[in-house]
Amino acid sequence: MSFLNDIEPLKQSALADLNAASDLPSLEQSKGAWIGPQGKFTGLMKQLGSLPKEDRPAAGKLINAAKIELEAALSARREEIELKAAQPKEPTDWTLPGRRRAVGRLHPLTQVTDDIVKAFRKLGFVVADGPEIEDEYHCFDALNTPADHPARDLQDTFYVGNNSKPETSNSRLPLLRTHTSSVQIRVMKSQPPPIRIIVPGRVYRRDNADATHNPTFHQIEGLYVDKGVTVGDLKGTVEAVFKDVLGSDVKLRFRPHYFSYTEPSMEIDFTNALVKKLGKDWLEIAGCGMVHPQVFENVGYDPEVWTGWAFGFGIERIAMLRYGITDIRLFYENDVRFLRQF
Ligand code: DAH
Repeated sequence: MSFLNDIEPLKQSALADLNAASDLPSLEQSKGAWIGPQGKFTGLMKQLGSLPKEDRPAAGKLINAAKIELEAALSARREEIELKAAQPKEPTDWTLPGRRRAVGRLHPLTQVTDDIVKAFRKLGFVVADGPEIEDEYHCFDALNTPADHPARDLQDTFYVGNNSKPETSNSRLPLLRTHTSSVQIRVMKSQPPPIRIIVPGRVYRRDNADATHNPTFHQIEGLYVDKGVTVGDLKGTVEAVFKDVLGSDVKLRFRPHYFSYTEPSMEIDFTNALVKKLGKDWLEIAGCGMVHPQVFENVGYDPEVWTGWAFGFGIERIAMLRYGITDIRLFYENDVRFLRQF
C-alpha cells in the first residue's frame, strides 16, 4: 500500500511547487514537472497497471482527485501572476494633472447650414437630398438645360467614368453634380405637389482654388410648388431667412437674370453693414426664379395647374459674410487655429 500513501505527500509538494512559481515561465515548468505528459502524476497513472487488481480503483480515484486539485491550483496561480504583472510597478501619484479631453465643435459651414435650415423649417420647409454622383439627365436635361449649354462643358464639369462627354443629349452619363438643382427633379418625380423643400449639399466644379473659388463647395437649393405661387412669395421667403441668419439690417435686391430652369429668372444681391465695410454696395448671393413650365412638363406636373419658385445659393458665401472670412480655402484646411474661432 506504499503507492497509495505516496500520493498525498506528492500532491503536497506539487502544490507547494506550483505556488512557489513567481512568473509564467516557471509556472509552466512546474506544470510540466507534475501534470505534464512527462510529469510525476502522469507517471503514477502509468504505474497503476502494476498494482494488484483490487487496489487499482481506489488508487485511480485518488490520483485523479489530486490531478484536479493541481489543475485548479495551477490556474489560480496563473491568475495571481497575471494580475500582479498588470499592476503598476510604481505607486500612483494622485497629484498629477488629469488628461484633458478636448471638446470639439461643429465646423462653421455646418453651423451656418444648420441655421439656414432652421430658418426655413420655421416656414414649413423640409430637408431633401440626392446623390452627389449625378447624371446629365437630372443635372441638366430635365432642368431644361440644352446639350450645348456652357455649364455642360468638360471645362467646368467633372464627368466620371469614361471621362468623355458624349455628343447626344438626354444622357445618363454620370458626373459630379455641379449644383443642388438636380434634387428638384428627383423630388418632383418622386411625389405629387405641393412641395416645400430645401436641399443643402456638396457640389463640384472644375474651378481652380483661389480666395473665392474651390472645386468643392456647398449650396442650398429651395423649391416651393403649389397653386398660385408668386414672385412675392419668393421675395418674402428669402428675405425672412436672410434676416434670420444674417441680421435684421440685411437688404436684398432682385435683378433680372437668365437660368434655363426658371422663367422669369433673377439674381439676388445682398447688402448689410459688413458688405459696406468691405467697400462694396451689393454682393451677388443667389440665383432664383419661377419654375419653368418645361421643367414641370419634364417631371409630369401640369404647368397649367402648378406654379412654383426655386433658388440656389452658396453656403460658403453666407458663412464668409457672417464671420468676415476673406479666403474660402480656410474652410477646407481643417486647421484648428481657424476652426476654434467659431
Ligand atoms: N443652380 C444655380 C447655380 O448653381 C443656382 C440656381 C439659380 C438655383 C436659379 C435655382 C434657380 O434653383 O432657380 O448657380
